[in-house]
Amino acid sequence: MLGWRRAAALLLPLPSRAGWRRPAAAMSSLLVGQPQYAWLRELGLQEDNPGVYNGRWGGGGQVVTTYCPANNEPIARVRQASLEDYEETVRKAKEAWKVWADIPAPKRGEIVRQIGDALRQNIKALGSLVSLEMGKIYVEGVGEVQEYVDVCDYAVGLSRMIGGPVLPSERSGHALIEQWNPVGLVGIITAFNFPVAVYGWNSAIAMICGNACLWKGAPTTSLISVAVTKIIAKVLEDNKIPGAVCSLVCGGADIGTAMARDGRMDLLSFTGSTEVGKQVALMVQERFGRSLLELGGNNAIIVFEDADLNLVIPSTLFAAVGTAGQRCTTARRLFLHESIHDEVVEKLVKAYAQVRIGDPWDSDTLYGPLHTKEAVKMFLDAVEQAKQQGGSVVYGGKVINRPGNYVEPTIVIGLAHNAPIVHRETFAPILYALKFKEEEEVFAWNNEVKQGLSSSIFTRDLGRIFRWLGPKGSDCGIVNVNIPTSGAEIGGAFGGEKHTGGGRESGSDSWKLYMKRSTCTINYSKDLPLAQGIKFQ
Ligand code: UN1
Repeated sequence: MLGWRRAAALLLPLPSRAGWRRPAAAMSSLLVGQPQYAWLRELGLQEDNPGVYNGRWGGGGQVVTTYCPANNEPIARVRQASLEDYEETVRKAKEAWKVWADIPAPKRGEIVRQIGDALRQNIKALGSLVSLEMGKIYVEGVGEVQEYVDVCDYAVGLSRMIGGPVLPSERSGHALIEQWNPVGLVGIITAFNFPVAVYGWNSAIAMICGNACLWKGAPTTSLISVAVTKIIAKVLEDNKIPGAVCSLVCGGADIGTAMARDGRMDLLSFTGSTEVGKQVALMVQERFGRSLLELGGNNAIIVFEDADLNLVIPSTLFAAVGTAGQRCTTARRLFLHESIHDEVVEKLVKAYAQVRIGDPWDSDTLYGPLHTKEAVKMFLDAVEQAKQQGGSVVYGGKVINRPGNYVEPTIVIGLAHNAPIVHRETFAPILYALKFKEEEEVFAWNNEVKQGLSSSIFTRDLGRIFRWLGPKGSDCGIVNVNIPTSGAEIGGAFGGEKHTGGGRESGSDSWKLYMKRSTCTINYSKDLPLAQGIKFQ
């Protein structure tokens, strides 16, 4: 169980464990100014960082300071984009697109390959920055940079494969073909919880398709956005490609709203809450634009009586406690067959008690802080509501008394499958363990929530597995068997149905969302036969 933890010890983050201890009093109040954080300079970060890139670095908007969730100390400052910076950047990105679209797709793939290589070279420092600024544990920080590296490799292959079919025409002397062209400019708005990977999935695929990208990350992870963009910018500039092909506009809701309303944004990919996603979708729809939405999840693991509990316990632990419950794929509902309910809960409580809580960059830590203080409040509020609605906390439920935004990973039992709190996505490590009797009932309960992202069953029954995958099974975009709800590979299409927004990113044929299809009919004969045999004479 959890063998990957050991591997983490071998990949000790920068700086070493001791090097991350508390700052000495006389030094800069920003972590970036202190000697033990000198490695942040390797990523090009300073005390004050421009947060706009469009071939040149700049930014004249509001200054944000980002904080380390493990101790709430300030890391460094970023000057965000003003609306004028946004305007200028969109203009430059549109100009850059003209150059980029003319480069053959396999050559665009070569640039993306170089970006993947540059990320490989910076993976430890970037993974450490993710740990420091987002708060996830180091192996998970490195893991999401790895997702970006992997999707670059995938995109390189795709750059020689994308295209449409030649279809049989019903008319002689006619060819019917599909031509795929880039949409143009892809706006990418990402969330704090995957501040590297989600941009990677979008940009690597968008780029090989021939699009320019304009990225707005979460304000609380602005340094990560800047560091990633610096890595990409160097590759583009070394290859004499206009830097605005991968533009960055750090900013808040004003920039997000400008992007959603902007008709020049040919596709807007948005990852975040269902609530904000709905506003974005409506603004984009109002201008008949195209959006790609990755919104909330409320993912269930279903454990049948024949399940292999040696898989169930570590899977549930990873899915519910991993990233401190802050993945959109986190397992929040655990449906246990009544015959094994007590046994699984007991085993899980024991496993939870062994989770090592600590500084996220410490190689021994399995569980770090929540991202913000507000998230701690939301956690406490949800635990309180769960109790009021009939739940009993059998593990956790409290704030941990140490600096930073730490809460106990929590298990609640005894709630009804349709208790309001169970149907709500609280972005925190709270797992609701619920009893069921029969397959039909529990498949319906899996599907009764508004969200439709990820779902898993644990069983050895082949018939049940295929019923789960079929039309009356899970209604989610991700449908797993004997693995956790989280931790999807980049090769598949990632996304979900219903209030999760319906978007698909990353692998499979998600590239199609970043392109527009033309159906082209070419007459190479001297006659003009009309379709459907119509004679218009
Ligand atoms: C997210 O939480 O927004 O499947 C993305 C996973 C990761 C991606 C999660 N590969 O858990």
